[in-house]
This record gives sequence, structure tokens and C-alpha cells, in this order.
Amino acid sequence: MRRKLVAGNWKMHGGLSANEALVRSMQARLTDAVACALCVPFPYLAQMSGLVGGTSIALGAQSISEHDSGAYTGEVSGGMLKEFGCEYVIVGHSERRAMFAEGDARVAAKFAAALRHGLTPILCVGETLAERESGETETVIARQIDAVIENSGVGTLGKAVLAYEPVWAIGTGRTATPDQAQQVHAFLRGRVAALDATLANGLMILYGGSVKASNAAEMFAMADVDGGLIGGASLVADDFLAICHAATRQ
Ligand code: PGA
Repeated sequence: MRRKLVAGNWKMHGGLSANEALVRSMQARLTDAVACALCVPFPYLAQMSGLVGGTSIALGAQSISEHDSGAYTGEVSGGMLKEFGCEYVIVGHSERRAMFAEGDARVAAKFAAALRHGLTPILCVGETLAERESGETETVIARQIDAVIENSGVGTLGKAVLAYEPVWAIGTGRTATPDQAQQVHAFLRGRVAALDATLANGLMILYGGSVKASNAAEMFAMADVDGGLIGGASLVADDFLAICHAATRQ
């Protein structure tokens, strides 16, 4: 069975003293039975790499430039993330797709940049409510993952993590049902299996979208749900820990 991963996505939240309090409070209570990561805003990477060093918490960023260096004001490269101890980087989060004009081609380029720098991309895919209601969920998800496979090759998914995040469930309190998530996760795994069955079997597919301590266990119990990408609940130590513990009980 795949060891579960629970990754926190702080989005644009945090603060020096709050970050320290959160990590210190989690430290003593974490278990190795689940892999745990925190994807934090860029300015906190230096502080956080000091805080999580020696703990089982891995560090991640929330975005990466597709370029390695150059005249790209405001951007942060994979090499820079690596220097600050990042292991993971989120690519293709729906907020970046929708608000920062990151289309499939750009997401695929960012995915490739992460791999070039030895980072594990957490590739987010997911449909909007309108797309779900018009029966387009699988078409959208397929398009999003195919863009990455076409650009980098299916084999690179072995060095990545996928995250299914239905846009309508993010930050809304409206979680997908475990069956809805399982259906899409199975679809994703099947699409990869058609190209490489062994790789698909080991592929990590997280669910994200309003995961809370109260609904995590039933979500993580689904056969193709290998953990979670947690937004709001990752900002509260007790909530995030409860979700990590729910992952260890599966
Ligand atoms: P949420 O966010 O848990 O607050 O819904 C998830 C995400 O955007 O990764």
C-alpha cells in the first residue's frame, strides 16, 4: 500500500511568530507513518527550513518559475527553492490557473522546471462547478494531465504527486463526497495506467478541497486517495495534525 502524504497549502497566510508556534506545536506529535509537507509563501522558506530541519515535516513552495534565471521580475526559480530546502512545489493550483493566467502549457513548463531542479511537483488538476454540471469533468482532467505527459513524458509522473482539487470544493466548505473523489482518482490512475501500469500503481494522488479533521478519514479510506492537499485546515496545528493522524489509520 502507498504511504500517504498530507501536504499543507498555506496560500497567502502566515507570519513569523505564528509559523514558529505552529511547527513547534506539531513537532512532538507527528508520526513517521505519514509523510507530511508544508507549502509556505516564499518569504517564509528560510525561517521554515530552520524550523522543520530535523523533523519529519518536508518543506514546499506554492509556485515556481518555468525559467531558471533571467529578467523575470517577481519570479522565483527552482534553483532558489532548492537552496532553501524545498522538496515539493505546487504547480497548476486552480487559483493560479484562474487568477494568474497559468494555462496548461505554462503549468507543463513549470512541472518540467521543478523536475530539472530536483523538486517534486504537486500537480493540481480539477474542474469548475460549471464543467462538472455539464458532464465535462473527465475531459478537463484529461486535458490538464495530458499537457504534462506530452511535454515531459509519462515517466516523469513517477517523480511527481498528483492532486485532484475540484475548484468548487476549494475553500468553500463543500467537500467532494468520497465516492466523487474516488471516481476521478480512479480515472486519473487509469489514464496513466494505459501508458505505464507499474508507474500508475505507485502514483500518489492527493485529494484537496475543504478537507477537515471531520471528513479526512472517510476520504483517505478510498482506494485511490493517497492523502490530501490541505488549505485552511493546515494553518491550525491541531486540525492539521488530526488530518495527518487520519491518514495513518488507513
Ligand atoms: P482548502 O484548500 O482546503 O482550504 O479548501 C485546498 C487547496 O486549495 O489546496
